[in-house]
Amino acid sequence: MNNIEKVKILEQKNAEALLLGGSDRIDSQHKKGKLSARERIELLLDEGSFEEIGKFVMHRCKDFGLDKEYYLGDGVVTGYGTINGRMVYVFSQDFTVLGGSLSETNAEKICKIMDLAMKNGVPIIGLNDSGGARIQEGVMSLGGYADIFYRNTLASGVVPQISAIMGPCAGGAVYSPAITDFILMVEQTSYMFVTGPNVVKTVTHEEVSSEELGGASTHSTKSGVTHFSCANEVECIQNIKRLLHFIPQNCEEIAPVYPYEIANENRPELNNIIPENPNQPYDMREVIAHIVDDGEHGFFEVHKNYAENIVVGFAKIAGRSIGIVGNQPAVLAGVLDIKSSVKAARFVRFCDCFNIPLLVLVDVPGFLPGTDQEWNGVITNGAKLLYAFCEATVPRVTVITRKAYGGAYDVMNSKHIGADMNYAWPTAEIAVMGAKGAAEIIFKREIASAENPEEKLAEKVQEYTEKFTNPYRAAHRGYIDEVIKPEQTRQKLIAAFKILENKVDHLPKKKHGNEPL
Ligand code: HXC
Repeated sequence: MNNIEKVKILEQKNAEALLLGGSDRIDSQHKKGKLSARERIELLLDEGSFEEIGKFVMHRCKDFGLDKEYYLGDGVVTGYGTINGRMVYVFSQDFTVLGGSLSETNAEKICKIMDLAMKNGVPIIGLNDSGGARIQEGVMSLGGYADIFYRNTLASGVVPQISAIMGPCAGGAVYSPAITDFILMVEQTSYMFVTGPNVVKTVTHEEVSSEELGGASTHSTKSGVTHFSCANEVECIQNIKRLLHFIPQNCEEIAPVYPYEIANENRPELNNIIPENPNQPYDMREVIAHIVDDGEHGFFEVHKNYAENIVVGFAKIAGRSIGIVGNQPAVLAGVLDIKSSVKAARFVRFCDCFNIPLLVLVDVPGFLPGTDQEWNGVITNGAKLLYAFCEATVPRVTVITRKAYGGAYDVMNSKHIGADMNYAWPTAEIAVMGAKGAAEIIFKREIASAENPEEKLAEKVQEYTEKFTNPYRAAHRGYIDEVIKPEQTRQKLIAAFKILENKVDHLPKKKHGNEPL
């Protein structure tokens, strides 16, 4: 065979690998509203930037007919490329080859790019579409999963890991995305569950569809497993790109900075957001919109439909990324509960891993009372948020817009737990509890023995309000660095994050803390 013929063989193999599991199976993907593994990579990466690794890998299994069924690539496309010029590693499971099932060799391909990504400080994006463990391979496949889980854990906090679920993801396979930083799911065509509807029916006698049990809407609203629910695959891929816009390549770098010329940063719109009646709700997202940069740099909400009483997400301020955590008075009065604490804690930890400064907007009446909360562990779960803030060494700035009551005042990035800069609006109410509740307790006897108890209560409420339902007690102590007009907020935050840009802070030397899990 001469050299020209040898090159021909290479070309034939390349062409064969491009065909994945064959055009019929690709058509069947399309009919389900799904793209093929290669089409997804094409959409995700900058044109022509994809470099494939392991294109000719084949499985080693000889059982159950697999000695006669081989596909180049073995059901997963792996490699690297760029997104808006920034390098990423990617694996894309190929449902057209044995249902994208995970074999020993298929897992080796994924592990190879994970190792490279970690060594080179590059994010890892996994596009998941798989029937799970390759049944013909048995324990070799399970070993492959464990090899991936192990690397997911080692990579956690080293490089960002993003998982898009674009088809089935079931059984133990779900635990790889679960360890990664962000999960995106596609509505109607993807699902995640540990045990499927048939097993559920056998064990608990519940009748439930795949979509209801583990579809995008379930996991974005009920369980919080997924951070983004996307209408289709194109939207899913767009969301991955938008997410990358706010995050760095690895734990040693900062997120991309865009040139920004400071101009008039006064935002008078902020003066009119807090209602006169302190019990009336407003949307914290309105506050955020007037604080952060515009357009593509504007607020990118994470976990939008889950635990909506807290809002978390990324934005740029004067061209630099920040992570925002805000109580949401428009939902459950912005109360902290189990779900909102865990949602915010995970977000704070991500930001701290990846050098993203935190802005915390506070309007919280306290923790949610009730047996449901207590019996399900609001103590442990609330402590997660407290612990996450206490441990965060990134620049941390707080703005109290209205209520900051009780333990929730402490938890929401108070000065006492390490916040760098704490602001309050004149409408802030910083106290152990609301004035009425407080007056009823501390003046109980005086009120009861008064000639007119109602009048006495009103008088005592007034007294407590004047003393504590404002930001000045806290400002006198230095717990609040400055009481600012709402319209000044953006300019103050730009200045604060600028001065904190080179902040260096270290936790005491230890193996690792024992956070309340
Ligand atoms: C090998 C598989 C496979 C698997 C699917 N296929 N899953 N091959 N191992 N796990 C093959 C099918 O034989 C078929 O091959 C092709 O992929 C497409 O599958 P279909 O069933 O035709 O597709 P569809 O109707 O869309 O159904 C998809 C599916 C179903 C719901 C995922 O295939 C299914 O239930 N698969 C088995 C799922 C499963 O039990 N996996 C193991 C879970 S346990 P042909 O040649 O016909 O195209 C697990 C443990 C992980 O994953 C533990 C980690 C710790």
